[in-house]
Amino acid sequence: MSERPAEDDPTTGEALDPEAEDDPTSDVGLTGASSFDTAHFKEVLGHFTSGITVITGADREGPVGFTCQSFMSLSLEPPLVAFGPSLTSSSWPRIQAVGAFCVNVLGEHQEALSRVFATKDPDKFRGVGWRRAATGSPVLDQVLAWIDCRIDTVHQAGDHLLVVGRVQELGVGEGEPLLFYRAGYGRFES
Ligand SMILES: Cc1cc2nc3c(=O)[nH]c(=O)nc-3n(C[C@H](O)[C@H](O)[C@H](O)COP(=O)(O)O)c2cc1C
Repeated sequence: MSERPAEDDPTTGEALDPEAEDDPTSDVGLTGASSFDTAHFKEVLGHFTSGITVITGADREGPVGFTCQSFMSLSLEPPLVAFGPSLTSSSWPRIQAVGAFCVNVLGEHQEALSRVFATKDPDKFRGVGWRRAATGSPVLDQVLAWIDCRIDTVHQAGDHLLVVGRVQELGVGEGEPLLFYRAGYGRFES
């Protein structure tokens, strides 16, 4: 029996099997926080395919938003969704101060929009058409779907936050989704 204490899996928070490090099928190599391989973490997690959203909000200064992959449907009763803004996000504090946001699910033709909203450009909305949802948050033109929310709870989660939103209003557009896989954009084929 091993003397080593169980460590926490940083991706789940669950206790890892202390013997797992010796498993030849596992190359995670968790021997301590200092030896954790972030490049390997990114490479492995990059194999999870997702859609792409732009999280938007609007304060007195105007509309703000940022490209966000970490979006999920969370609860049906009550209707909740969640996503993870980085602590380095400059848009998120403005959105949080207003208390509401809109999740804009991008269509396959909106890669350029994803790239713009993934920058720190102070004028990301230049040339972008939008209207206000019920909360006042921007719904971008021609998105595949949109989910307008009030902030329910905000949790600390390492170098990110985990934001839970209560759905106020939602709708769909037309077309196919923009996908993200292994640091590249792609399209869906059935
Ligand atoms: C495909 C893709 C997915 C992203 N997902 C997230 C995410 O889930 N959370 C996050 O905070 N930033 C994410 N980003 C990075 C932000 O879009 C980027 O840091 C942006 O500059 C933040 O803008 P802001 O400082 O105006 O908030 C993603 C970027 C790309 C290209």
